[in-house]
Amino acid sequence: MMYLLVAAIVITVGTTYALWMMEQGNYTNVWAVGRGAILVVGVASCVVLGLLHLRREMLHDRAREDELSKLKTDFVSHVSHELRTPLSSIKAYAELLVDGEATDDKTRSEFYHIIQSEADRLSRLIDNILNISCIESGMTRVTRKPVALNTILKQVLEVAKPSAREKNVSLVDQVEPVFFSVEADRDMIYQAALNLVSNAIKYTPSGGTVRISLGAQDESKELVVQVSDTGVGIPPDAMKHLFEKFFRVEQHKSMAKGSGLGLNLTRQIIEGIHKGRMIVKSEYGKGSTFGFALPIAA
Ligand SMILES: Nc1ncnc2c1ncn2[C@@H]1O[C@H](COP(=O)(O)OP(=O)(O)O)[C@@H](O)[C@H]1O
Ligand SMILES: [Mg+2]
Repeated sequence: MMYLLVAAIVITVGTTYALWMMEQGNYTNVWAVGRGAILVVGVASCVVLGLLHLRREMLHDRAREDELSKLKTDFVSHVSHELRTPLSSIKAYAELLVDGEATDDKTRSEFYHIIQSEADRLSRLIDNILNISCIESGMTRVTRKPVALNTILKQVLEVAKPSAREKNVSLVDQVEPVFFSVEADRDMIYQAALNLVSNAIKYTPSGGTVRISLGAQDESKELVVQVSDTGVGIPPDAMKHLFEKFFRVEQHKSMAKGSGLGLNLTRQIIEGIHKGRMIVKSEYGKGSTFGFALPIAA
């Protein structure tokens, strides 16, 4: 586009100059003809370069379209695969119940519970997929208001308590009462914080500790939320993939169920929507710290 603009300017200047020369009756000046020739060559090369540039942009667009279409196909096949796992489980246990394979109340109750937890998993998976799609397509309604992170984190702690107790993981509340607030969508920040706390509990073996802290950083004018665990940690080569959709560390798959969408969604909420930043530190075999920083509201 730049080349075409330059060409247009040169043509305009050249034409004005030529008209001016003709008005002066100066048809025979050799220097004027020379300048005219230089002008024509300049214009021609600008046009050729402009066309080449346009062609390159078109090819680039085509490659990007092909890449997007491949991403969409990969996403759809991945989603279908992920949906099939809990659905197969629900189907299998429902069939066992229908066929009368569960002969006593204890077995029946166990099967009902499996169906219920698999249905919950399916529902969470669909929620995550819908949330991510809505954010990516720009269709999410974001309600920004001054939000006190203390209150949100206390609620997250309350909600996470039962699963921590069930796993014998201690939840330590290090949420300081900070005076500042952030301009944010309350529900989204709640979801982001809950995702990090749930992960910390999920990937920390029995007897471990999960600490949730909140602090204000004066220099960067940010509020910082951190969730530290004494869990399994993350292998160095997996660190760069953590936020990819559906990524789960191979060694963790047997430890807990999951879809690999939570961190992707969390990052989209923090960095994409709230212009904050994610924090990740981990030592394989020792534990991890996940968190986020959000700019303090003016
Ligand atoms: N606190 C943590 N400690 C160790 N590994 C973690 C932690 N949080 C996340 N991970 C790793 O990152 C992966 C992606 O996390 P996430 O997107 O939340 O997926 P999910 O929780 O569904 O597995 C997890 O599968 C796990 O391997
Ligand atoms: Mg998760």
